[in-house]
Amino acid sequence: MTDYLNEYCMHDHTCGELRLKDVDTEVVLTGWVWRTRDLGALIFIDLRDREGYTQVIVDPDCVSAEDFKKAESLGREYVIKVVGKVRSRGEAAFNHDMATGEIEVLASAIEILNTSVTPPFHIEDGSETDEIMRMKWRYMDLRRPEMFQTIKLRHTVAQAMRSALNKRGFIEVETPILANSTPEGARDFLVPSRPNPGKFYALPQSPQQFKQMLMCGGIERYYQIARCFRDEDLRADRQPEFTQVDVEMSFVEGEDVMDMMEGVMQEVLEAVNVEHEFPLQRMQYADAMEYYGCDRPDIRFDMKLVNLSEIVRDCGFGVFAKTVESGGVVKAVNCKGAGDWSRGEIEKLEANVARPNGAKGMAWFAITSEGKEKGSFIKFLDEETFAAIKEAVGAEPGDLVCFAADKAPVANAVLSAIRLHMADALNIPREGHALLWVVNFPMFGYDPEEGKYSAEHHPFTMVPPDQQHLIEDDPLACGSYSYDLVMDGFEAGGGTIRVHNADLQRRVLRRCGLTDEEIDEKFGHLLRALELGAPPHGGIALGLDRLVMLLAGKQSIRDVIAFPKTTSASDPMTNAPSEVTERQLTEVNLRLM
Ligand code: AMO
Ligand code: AMP
Repeated sequence: MTDYLNEYCMHDHTCGELRLKDVDTEVVLTGWVWRTRDLGALIFIDLRDREGYTQVIVDPDCVSAEDFKKAESLGREYVIKVVGKVRSRGEAAFNHDMATGEIEVLASAIEILNTSVTPPFHIEDGSETDEIMRMKWRYMDLRRPEMFQTIKLRHTVAQAMRSALNKRGFIEVETPILANSTPEGARDFLVPSRPNPGKFYALPQSPQQFKQMLMCGGIERYYQIARCFRDEDLRADRQPEFTQVDVEMSFVEGEDVMDMMEGVMQEVLEAVNVEHEFPLQRMQYADAMEYYGCDRPDIRFDMKLVNLSEIVRDCGFGVFAKTVESGGVVKAVNCKGAGDWSRGEIEKLEANVARPNGAKGMAWFAITSEGKEKGSFIKFLDEETFAAIKEAVGAEPGDLVCFAADKAPVANAVLSAIRLHMADALNIPREGHALLWVVNFPMFGYDPEEGKYSAEHHPFTMVPPDQQHLIEDDPLACGSYSYDLVMDGFEAGGGTIRVHNADLQRRVLRRCGLTDEEIDEKFGHLLRALELGAPPHGGIALGLDRLVMLLAGKQSIRDVIAFPKTTSASDPMTNAPSEVTERQLTEVNLRLM
């Protein structure tokens, strides 16, 4: 690897590779001046390139007077070339924090390749520079070795994906960026078409329809490292443009796609030295919601939710009994280790975690480490019910048990948030990585505000044959052939088996509120393709940015994207998005309001 790095360039070694075995070798290094120390008689330069640091010594006895002057003039981030000889620092001066810490290079010549004005911030790993500054000067930020390692990790992951998919007979195909809208649940980015006044392309939210067309085209196994565009509210794990490893296969069932993808993931994890057991666990969506309260459970720690609805159905505490009577649920999570929390701390948990997630209150009880019981509602319970609750949640001294009584989705959201919050608060170890499949999502969700059903994944998802009547009869009970790849509490990927029958596709689209005219206008091409011998097919898309974020141990996908956007979807370096001229607008037939 390093050998190639020293070909076709000005240097014959990188700044990261010299060791004691190289002592007495004549070397040529290039790089950036990280810092200098001028001791008068000697000048020390820490020279940096993407591979690491090397200490260079400039001794006036070993270089020309002119070169010594150059060394004296060096500032931070100057770009230089150094010719010199490797020597040992001497055991007493070894720096064990540095890969090249046993050697230094005694310069015999120095050439300044470029100067630098004072950098906007110091290029240093672990520095606390404001993120907007780092994005404005992204090329400076990228010079930090930590950033380079992350960008390289991303490359390694992408290459391992490609290689694993190539081996399995997949063909990489590019699909259009100027496209028509494909629904993935976000807003589209629109691009006006100059030759077609009043008409717009939509940047693809995913290559979903094109990959299905490729299956209709007989390609059988496709993949693409595809850029996707979604105009949605940004969070730490979302960007307006992001990258999917997009995959589609013909003549498969869901199990085939999952098995195939596990093989690919196994190769990818090996490539980045992460150990994980395979095959992966497959958890029903319903179980994920029941025991973790969310469809992307972090299973690196236990702390499952417990459903107490049956136990409290007829209890004396009105909030619980009424909730169950009206079709809601009462669930709890046992936070082991928080039994000695003060009332104030518990009230903060309610105000900052439970309520923002929709809770109307947060009943709780605690057993202190001395075994004393306290709680917000136990006085309303008879002894038998309280004993049954304690048994169901496994309550012991040292436990704090938090309750949510509400419609299932609200109770789940509240307790899932409490579970994750408490894992942090109680320092529950979450080391390593945990991957699993969450399978069999419901086909439809219902938005009461819009009075509309919509597809949970997307409307091209296959409904199991024995449930297809539910599309019309009872949409919320209708299942789907779907699977998400979940990693460490994040949705790392998602996929489905597709509808390959035009009539069924039309029924699903109708259920999502489209009229037949709208269906023909927006999806006519798809319906025709399905009528013309579409093979059974299915696939998946992995979020490359999220996957690399988790593997790199970063908190935000911005850290694994070379040129990311801020949370307001702008780029402080290039100032995109920006205004355009009146003339440009006229050309595309647009006028600003
Ligand atoms: P889905 O919408 O679940 O499925 O997207 C697949 C994966 O892409 C990642 N992802 C994102 N990453 C960063 N920023 C975003 N804004 C963003 N949105 C999604 C997630 C997600 O799991 N066409 C289907 C896939 C299929 O059915 O084959 C699709 O796009 O990691
Ligand atoms: P109250 O009888 O309203 O004073 O409530 C007694 C306890 O139950 C308080 O700790 C409330 O926070 C809690 N509580 C109220 N409503 C709910 C609910 N929907 N889910 C869980 N706890 C609740």
